[in-house]
Amino acid sequence: AILILDFGGQYSQLIARRVRDLNVYCEIKSYKTNVEQIRSSGYKGIIFSGGPNSVYTEIAPVCDKQVFELGIPVLGICYGAQLMSYLLGGKVSSSKVREYGKTPVNFLESGALFQNIEKDSVCWMSHTDYISVAPEGFQITAVSDACPVAAMENGARKLYALQFHPEVEHTVRGNEILKNFLYNICGCKGDWQMASFAAETIQHIKDTVGDKKVICALSGGVDSSVAALLVHKAIGKNLTCIFVDHGMLRKNEGDDVENVFRKQFDMNLIRVNAQERFLAKLKGVTEPEQKRKIIGEEFIRVFEEEAKKIGHVDYLCQGTIYPDVVESGTGDAAVIKSHHNVGGLPDDVDFTGLVEPLRSLFKDEVRRVGLELGIPEHLVWRQPFPGPGLGIRIMGEVTAEKLAILQDADAIFREEIALAGLDKKINQYFAVLTGIKSVGVMGDGRTYSNTIALRGVTTSDFMTADWARIPYDLLEKVSSRIINEVKQVNRVVYDITSKPPATIEWE
Ligand code: XMP
Repeated sequence: AILILDFGGQYSQLIARRVRDLNVYCEIKSYKTNVEQIRSSGYKGIIFSGGPNSVYTEIAPVCDKQVFELGIPVLGICYGAQLMSYLLGGKVSSSKVREYGKTPVNFLESGALFQNIEKDSVCWMSHTDYISVAPEGFQITAVSDACPVAAMENGARKLYALQFHPEVEHTVRGNEILKNFLYNICGCKGDWQMASFAAETIQHIKDTVGDKKVICALSGGVDSSVAALLVHKAIGKNLTCIFVDHGMLRKNEGDDVENVFRKQFDMNLIRVNAQERFLAKLKGVTEPEQKRKIIGEEFIRVFEEEAKKIGHVDYLCQGTIYPDVVESGTGDAAVIKSHHNVGGLPDDVDFTGLVEPLRSLFKDEVRRVGLELGIPEHLVWRQPFPGPGLGIRIMGEVTAEKLAILQDADAIFREEIALAGLDKKINQYFAVLTGIKSVGVMGDGRTYSNTIALRGVTTSDFMTADWARIPYDLLEKVSSRIINEVKQVNRVVYDITSKPPATIEWE
C-alpha cells in the first residue's frame, strides 16, 4: 500500500483517487501519524499532500523528520515538497505573488519522475511559497519561470518533491509522473482492483460495528444503495433500511426499490407508504420553497417515527460521497434552492455514530463498487433524482391525480430515450407538469388540457448545464406517444434553456 500523509490539502482525496486509478491501494492518514506505526505498516511509498499553510507559520503542520530515515520512498507535493526541503536543510521563500494555474514547466532529463515524458510540459501550480534552495544531496529536476526548484530529488535516499500538483488533470503528464513514482520507484505492481475496495470496506465495517445495530434511509439512489449494501454484507440483519416512499417517485420506482433490496439482496427493509400523509401536508401549497421544506421535514418525521419503533440503534449509515464532503465545507454561497437529501440527518434519532463507507469515493467509483456488488445496471446508472421528487416537477399544488399524469408522461420519455441509446449521453432528462392548460383539437372535438414540458440536459457537474440536442424525430415520437397514451395531456413542449440562467429542475 501507499500512504498519503495529509497536511490539510484540498486535493488529498484526489491524490488517492489517482493512485487508485493506477490500481494501487492507498490509505490517507494525518501528518501526525506516528513514525513507528508507519514503519510497521509496510508501506511501499509515502506521498505528502499539499496544504494551505506556509512552513514558517506557527500552525504549520509538521511531521516527524524520522519519516525520511525509514528507507521508504517519499514524494512531496506542493506544501509537502516545501516541508521536505525545510526539514532537510533547504530554503523555502515567500514570493510576493501567488503562482496559480496552468504553468509551463521544464523537466530535466535526469529526473526519475520524468522518464519517458517530453521535456516541456504544462503543470498546475497553486502556491505562494517556493523552494528557493534545494537541500544538500538534492538535484534540481524541473524549473519554471517562478520556481528555481519546480521539482527536486535525492535518488540515493529515494526522496522526491514536486512544487506543482500531478494529481490535478490540468497537469498534462501528471498521471505518468505518479506512475513513475508508484511503479518504478516504489515497485508497486498495479494489480489492485475496485473489488478489493468492497472486500476491505466490508471487513472494516465488520471490525468496527461488530454486533451493533445500524439503520439507514434508502431511496434507491446509487449512493445510499451502495452504502447500505456494503453494510448489509458486513452485518446482515443488524442493518435495518427504512425506505420512506413519499409517493412522489417515478413510475413503479417504489416497487422496484423494494424488489431489488428485499427480494434480490434479502435485506431488512421497511417500506413506509406515506403518500397520503405527504399530500395532506402539501394541500393548497404552491410556493416552491415551501413545498421543498414541507417534503424535507415530513421525510425526517416519518423516518424518525419508524426509527423509534426499532428502538435503540448504534449507528446511522449514510451514502455521503467525497464531493459532498468537500461541498459542505463552503458556507457562503447563496441559497438558490434548499436541497433535501434523502438520508439527511434526523435530529430526533438516538444513535452514537455514523457509518459512511463511501466518504472517500467519487461518483464513478461508487458506480463501479455498485456493479461489483451486483446492484442492477439501471439502479447503478440511475440519473440524479431530487429528494422532493416529482413534488417539484409539478408546478402549483401537488395532487395524486397530477402525480399519476406526470408519472406516465415521464415514463414514456425515459423509455424512448433509453430505446434511442441516449440514456447515458444525456445526463438528466425528465418531464414536468407545467400547470398550464391550453386549447387543442382531437378528432373533431375541442380539448382544454395539460401541457407537459420535457427537459434534457448535458452537464459534467450539474452546476452548469446545456439543454440536450435531442433529435427532432425522437421528440416527435415522445410527443405523440404522450398525447395518445396519457389522458389529460394535449400539448408537449421542449425546454431549450441552459443553466444558468435557468436551473435544471423547474422548482
Ligand atoms: P438545479 O435544479 O438546482 O439542480 O439546477 C441541480 C441538480 O440537483 C438536483 N436536485 C436535488 N438533489 N435534493 C437532491 O438530492 C434536492 O432537493 C434537489 N433539488 C435539485 C437536480 O435534480 C439536479 O440534478
